[in-house]
Amino acid sequence: MQWYTVLAFCFIALVGAQEAELPLADICDAETCQLPDCRCSSTQIPGNLQPRDTPQFVMVTFDDAINVINIETYNELLNNRKNSNGCTAGATFYVSHEYTNYQLVNELYNKGLEIALHSISHRTPQTYWKEATYETVKREFGDQIGQMAHFANIPKDSIKGVRMPFLQMTGNSTFQVISETSLEYDCSWPTVTYKNPGLWPYTLDFSSTQDCVVPPCPSAAISNSWVLPMIAWEDLNGTACAMVDSCFAVPDHSDADAWFEFISANFERHYKGNRAPFGFFIHEWYLSTYPQVKLGLAKFLDSINKIPDVFMVNSKDVIEWVKNPVPVDEYANRPCKVPAQAPCSRASCGPLSAEHTQMSYYMQVCSKCPRVYPWLDNPLGA
Ligand SMILES: *[C@@H]1O[C@H](CO)[C@@H](O)[C@H](O)[C@H]1NC(C)=O
Ligand SMILES: *[C@@H]1O[C@H](CO)[C@@H](O)[C@H](O)[C@H]1NC(C)=O
Ligand SMILES: [Zn+2]
Repeated sequence: MQWYTVLAFCFIALVGAQEAELPLADICDAETCQLPDCRCSSTQIPGNLQPRDTPQFVMVTFDDAINVINIETYNELLNNRKNSNGCTAGATFYVSHEYTNYQLVNELYNKGLEIALHSISHRTPQTYWKEATYETVKREFGDQIGQMAHFANIPKDSIKGVRMPFLQMTGNSTFQVISETSLEYDCSWPTVTYKNPGLWPYTLDFSSTQDCVVPPCPSAAISNSWVLPMIAWEDLNGTACAMVDSCFAVPDHSDADAWFEFISANFERHYKGNRAPFGFFIHEWYLSTYPQVKLGLAKFLDSINKIPDVFMVNSKDVIEWVKNPVPVDEYANRPCKVPAQAPCSRASCGPLSAEHTQMSYYMQVCSKCPRVYPWLDNPLGA
């Protein structure tokens, strides 16, 4: 045997060993698993608060690339929106790289909204994600942190969240990458079982009790990694759906009032229950295709923005509260977070050739123009 063959075998053995090394998660021990860094998967309200003392968080989130078309909807729905305590209302964008306009990302960030990750390639087929190894997830999300920070000129440590394309779980890999980077949480994991009472965010230090809707789900013990469950909605027939645009039996798309009622009914299950964070998870196309749905949503947001114990926030703010839960009175009276301003020296770049396809791209950035269109293994387009 040649020496390099031996080396190759050693290398494979090492890599194999490293992957097998993840310890299997044990049943959660509430004595050792304590906030702020550990929480068992549970429907119990953090800090053992009573529902009436618990802020009802509302998370509005949008997925995919941000461009000059969908920014219209975002501005229309979110500009100048405030919670009842006068603080700016939040929303979260799970941004995929291809076709994203990074100058618009910078603008959203400067409005105090959350910029989170949805992968560099967002590629098909879905099995690519289902089978994604640690290395793949690291290239898609680990590298996207620096890419986003660079082109939108926003701080790396402002980027905390990820959502998998197609909500396809990868087993342990995504959470391993979260654990080993500055990322903090994943919001791709739907729960149908824990709708009412709803499942609060938790960590993966111990084994999860959450139902696995899109396997494979994680089973290793992984610290520094939060799950922000996507608590399913019920459509008009009581069938569960994780994203609003995937609900089947829905009101007439031309009836804004019926949509207002539909959204409100789902909200009330949370608000009158254990106040687990309520999600309105959607793709922008649904709202621009159905303007009356958008109107129903705007009406709903107007209504909750008047309720003293309801807060429309960035998803990462929910994790922050769960780590250090305080009663709603105290929470409402905190000084508002002032959005940090990130400057943008605008550059319009292109045509840029892409290494992964024959196409060329144009790109709006807050940085110097890249040499080629950024992609996997060359996230800055150097
Ligand atoms: C996750 O890690 C655990 C513990 O090492 C392992 O048993 C399980 O098979 C892993 N899951 C996947 C999908 O690889
Ligand atoms: C809702 O359920 C009823 C009864 O099962 C069925 O007849 C109806 O078609 C369903 N509606 C939709 C939109 O699926
Ligand atoms: Zn997507």
